[in-house]
Amino acid sequence: MAKMWAGRFSKEVDEGVNAFNSSISFDWRMYRQDIKGSIAHAKMLGKQGIIAPSESEKIVEGLKIILKDLDNGILDIDPNAEDIHMFVEEVLTKRLGETGKRLHTARSRNDQVATDLRLYLRDEIEEIIALIKKLINVLCDLAKENKSTVMPGYTHLQRAQPITFAHHLMAYAQMLLRDISRLKDCKKRMNESPLGSGALAGTTYNTDRFYTAELLGFDGVMQNSLDGVSDRDFCVELSSVISLVMVHLSRFSEEIILWCSWEFKFIELDDAFATGSSIMPQKKNPDITELIRGKTGRVIGDLNTLLIMLKGTPLAYNKDMQEDKEAVFDAVDTVKLCLETFIPMISTMNVLKDNMRTAAAKGFINATDCADYLVKKGMAFRTAYKITGQLVAFCTEKNIVLEEVPLDVLKSYSQLFENDVYQAICLDTCVNERKSYGGPSPESVEIQINYVLLALKE
Ligand code: ARG
Repeated sequence: MAKMWAGRFSKEVDEGVNAFNSSISFDWRMYRQDIKGSIAHAKMLGKQGIIAPSESEKIVEGLKIILKDLDNGILDIDPNAEDIHMFVEEVLTKRLGETGKRLHTARSRNDQVATDLRLYLRDEIEEIIALIKKLINVLCDLAKENKSTVMPGYTHLQRAQPITFAHHLMAYAQMLLRDISRLKDCKKRMNESPLGSGALAGTTYNTDRFYTAELLGFDGVMQNSLDGVSDRDFCVELSSVISLVMVHLSRFSEEIILWCSWEFKFIELDDAFATGSSIMPQKKNPDITELIRGKTGRVIGDLNTLLIMLKGTPLAYNKDMQEDKEAVFDAVDTVKLCLETFIPMISTMNVLKDNMRTAAAKGFINATDCADYLVKKGMAFRTAYKITGQLVAFCTEKNIVLEEVPLDVLKSYSQLFENDVYQAICLDTCVNERKSYGGPSPESVEIQINYVLLALKE
C-alpha cells in the first residue's frame, strides 16, 4: 500500500524495511484507546472551529463505527499497516473520503502514541490492583484460619523464633499493600495528557488541550510539549513497580517451593496446581511457583530494556521509543498471568499444621524465651544469653530439647530457674506472649488482619 508520506518519496518503501518498521503486530491492542483519543481530538477540532462542526461529527461517528467493527470482528487489523494510528486513519479515510483526511489536523503520531499508551496502561494498572487485592483477601482468609498455627520463624534459613503461619502470611499482605500504593502513585503521574503536544512543538492552531484531557479522563495536561512526546518515565515507573510485585511473588514462590519439599513438608499443593514427572512416579512438582520465580527475571529484563532504550535518546521523539511497548506490555501481561495463577494455588493449598509445629518444636527456637525468663527473674540479658547458650550446648550433646532438661540440672546453671520455666518456654507461650505490636501472637495478628482489610477498603 502507498504510504501516507508517499508525496515526499520517489520510491516505495522496501518490503523488509516495512516489516522492520511496523509496530502493528503489538500496538494493535491499543486500538480502543487510539480511537477514543481520536474521538476526543475530533470533537476538540470541531468545538474550536479548526474543522467544520459537521465534519467533526462525521469523523466521530465514523470512528465509533470503526471501533464497533473492530470489537465485533467485522473489521480485521491489517498486518501490513505501519501502526495502529495509521491503520485507523486509513480505514476512516477509506470510509469517509476527504472528511477523514481532516482528523490528523493539529496532531502528530508522537502525541497520539503517547496518549494511547497512557490510556492503555492506566486501565491495566486498575486490573493489576484488582488482582493484588484478591490475593491479599485470600491471604487474610488463610491467616484467619491459622492464627494459632505455630511454625518456626527463620533468619539465615535457620530456625530462629516461633511465629505463626498467619503472621508469616500477613508479612506478604503488607508487601502487596505497598505495591498497590505504588501502582496508584504511578497512575497519578501517568494520568496527564500529552495530546496536543503535536510532533514536538505544539501547534499554531487554536487547540484546547484541557478539553481533550477532560474528555479522556486525564487529571490534567502535560506542561511541556517536548516532554509530552518524549517522556516514557511512566513506562519505566510501571515496569519498576511491577518488577517489585514480581519480586514479592518470587520470594513467596521460593518459600512455597521449600515448604513443598520433603525436608519441610509444611504445605501440600492441590493436585490441580502441581505437576508430575515423566519418569519419576512419586513426583509432585511446584512448577507454578518455579515459573513465577523464573518470570520475575523476565520482567526485570523488561524494566532494563526500557531504561536502556531511553537513556541515550535526545529530545524529543525517536523511533527507539517504539520499543517501549513490547517491554511494558510484557511486564503487564506477565504479572497478571502470574497473579491469576498464584491466587487459586494459594487458596487451595493444604496447610500441614502438625508438620509446622513439629519443626517449631525442634531447633531451640525457644532459647530466646529461656534467656528472657531469667531476665524477668532479675538477671542481666547478656548473662542470661550466655547461660542459655551453655544449656543449648548441653541439650545438643544429650540430643534433647530445653523443655526436657530436669529442674535440678537447670538449677545447676542458675538458681533462678523454678518449675514455672517449663510453662514459660513451651511453644504456645512463646507465641502467645509475643504480643508486641506487629508480632506473631494471635491477638497481634488479628490487629494486622483488620488493618489490612481496612486498607483494602480505602
Ligand atoms: N509506532 C510509533 C511508536 O510506537 C508511533 C509514532 C511514530 N512516530 C513517528 N514520528 N514515526 O512509537
